[in-house]
Amino acid sequence: MYVLGISCFYHDAGAALVKDGQLLAAAEEERFNRQKHYSGFPKLAVEYCLKEAGIAIDDVDYISFYEKPIVKFNRILETILARWPLTYANWVRSMPLWLKTKLHIGQIIQRELGTDKDIYYCQHHLAHAASTFLVSPFPEAAIITVDGVGEWTTTAWGIGRGTEIVINKEIRFPHSVGLLFSAITAYLGFRVNDAEWKVMGLAPYGKPTYIDQFRQVVDIREDGSFRLNMDYFMHTHSTEKIFSRKWEELFGRPQRPKDTELDEFHEDIAHSGQKIVEEIMVKTAAHVHKVTGQKSVCIAGGVGLNCVANWRILQETGFDSIFIQPAAGDSGGALGTAFYLYNTVLKKPREFTMMHAYWGPSFTDDEIKTALKQTGMKYTYQASEEELLKQTARMIADGKVVGWFQGRLEFGPRALGSRSIVADARNPKMKDIINAKVKFREAFRPFAPSVLKEYAHQYFEMPAGMDAPFMLLVPKVRPQMHNVLPAITHKDGTGRVQTVTEEYNGRYYRLIKTFGELTGVPVVINTSFTQTDRFGG
Ligand SMILES: [Fe+2]
Repeated sequence: MYVLGISCFYHDAGAALVKDGQLLAAAEEERFNRQKHYSGFPKLAVEYCLKEAGIAIDDVDYISFYEKPIVKFNRILETILARWPLTYANWVRSMPLWLKTKLHIGQIIQRELGTDKDIYYCQHHLAHAASTFLVSPFPEAAIITVDGVGEWTTTAWGIGRGTEIVINKEIRFPHSVGLLFSAITAYLGFRVNDAEWKVMGLAPYGKPTYIDQFRQVVDIREDGSFRLNMDYFMHTHSTEKIFSRKWEELFGRPQRPKDTELDEFHEDIAHSGQKIVEEIMVKTAAHVHKVTGQKSVCIAGGVGLNCVANWRILQETGFDSIFIQPAAGDSGGALGTAFYLYNTVLKKPREFTMMHAYWGPSFTDDEIKTALKQTGMKYTYQASEEELLKQTARMIADGKVVGWFQGRLEFGPRALGSRSIVADARNPKMKDIINAKVKFREAFRPFAPSVLKEYAHQYFEMPAGMDAPFMLLVPKVRPQMHNVLPAITHKDGTGRVQTVTEEYNGRYYRLIKTFGELTGVPVVINTSFTQTDRFGG
């Protein structure tokens, strides 16, 4: 039985194909059409999924969409009416789109796919919950989902047991951690729904100077529930701006114009805002742990990509283990809605655990040779993997920046060793070299390390044998290793680790192993090909 999951029409469109309860393929549309965070129908991603399975759309038994459009429309309509006439511009902008397309999502999907099959609609936060719990290794676990907004829900928590998911509590729009973080991102002059990473990267450079002001913006209770003070926000009546003039008065400066210099003020805002978001996440998780008594927690939603908050949840809230799959944001909704339909609606047993991120297309040697010839790029072909690994490890050790392209493309925003820039984590100049020459990005953003799992605890303050395969956890680099790994040790002494195993990372594992044998340090820099606003070459 085939189930096709689809997420689209907001941001990060994606598709996932499940066969008899096993994930066969999953990918984001942006990787095919090279438009970052593409929101339209994921036509190429769907085509890829079907091709990977060797089937046509008629062979698909169920099609599952990652939210309920009518409920979402209801929220938008109610929000507009509640603030009328302030919301006039919002009405003018959003209504034609809804009336023309978004209310007819079922028909659009059928038309795009060339099928008349019924579409199943899964509530957005249930799709997030399913995207983490149903593919986790846990028979039962607490579940926390946090994002900007789905239909109405912005934060939800509950329990997953077997194939059942029960949501116990939710927080609704306009009160939203995701939108609070987006407001901070926009205020700092970064692009919303894209550059939230930059806030997290900038935060360690600042001080908690503006915590008190943020406490006026958001009221956080002991159980982690919260309310935004809507005087400081505009997202109920503007599609353009999230924060209000009063927000700018409160913090004492207008929004940073794009491409102007970042200074201490911006660092302190990033630091204080990140701390506030961490506080909400940690208090929520501590409360959920207390109330559910569960040992494990599964997290999803865009805020689930906040790896600093994730690590604190694991350290401070009583949970023994944590699972977050790599496409924690909206593209992962495609994965979630497919598994929700298969496991929870159809009540089929869970038989799949998402142990790696490699669910996208791969290419044969011949296809790669053809592509290289077409670009006119010089290349040598190395048939022996052993030689390939030796030569590549030597290049990395010699200070070269290596583009590493092999195997199946990663699902989710992280490069995890299939489409990665790999370099020497021991070289103190390497961060500046990559930033300046290859990525053209801000110097404050950290580079992440990939480390052989069996050595991870020697370099990072994490237990021996712990899995962190998706770069969604940020332990401290052991103090004695700061000088050994200067290129991946962030300002606050942390590193966004990817643990790598032979079983799930194959050739990438063997590359780092070869590099470790050559240098004595089985750790490399791993960063993506993406540049600031577009995909790199
Ligand atoms: Fe979401």
